[in-house]
Amino acid sequence: MKNSYIYFLSVLTILTFYGFSGSNYFSKEDGKKIFVDQKCISCHSVKSFDLISKKKDATDFSSGNKTWTAEFLSQYLKKEIKLDGALHKNIFKGTDDQLKTLIDWLLALKTQSKK
Ligand code: HEC
Repeated sequence: MKNSYIYFLSVLTILTFYGFSGSNYFSKEDGKKIFVDQKCISCHSVKSFDLISKKKDATDFSSGNKTWTAEFLSQYLKKEIKLDGALHKNIFKGTDDQLKTLIDWLLALKTQSKK
């Protein structure tokens, strides 16, 4: 009885450890990579991640935007909804998984900002 309890605990510990390290590994760097790969960087900067757009009047997303939600970003980047009366310039061409990773990364920028 006691042995199977210990066995159960160690399996749980291993699963938890791999689960957490796995998700951190994927979400942190990949958002940045997708931002570059999907050419977001041609119109937007994220200076806090050393992503500097060549476009002079590029918006800097370093501290995100208070109004962003996962739902808004997902629809806006797929050109399903407008912002200030206009659709986004660019439709997201990656996979749904990449879009989710990108959005999580963008939303994390927002929580870093105190403003
Ligand atoms: C061809 C230029 C261009 C590209 C490429 C582009 N955007 Fe945009 N984006 C704009 C413009 C223009 C706006 C509206 C004005 C602004 O906020 O800069 C905008 C607005 C946004 C907003 C809303 C900003 C706000 O004020 O809330 C987000 C978020 C955004 N873009 C993310 C992205 C992401 C992520 C990518 C890559 C998948 C991307 N953009 C690629 C031009 C572009």
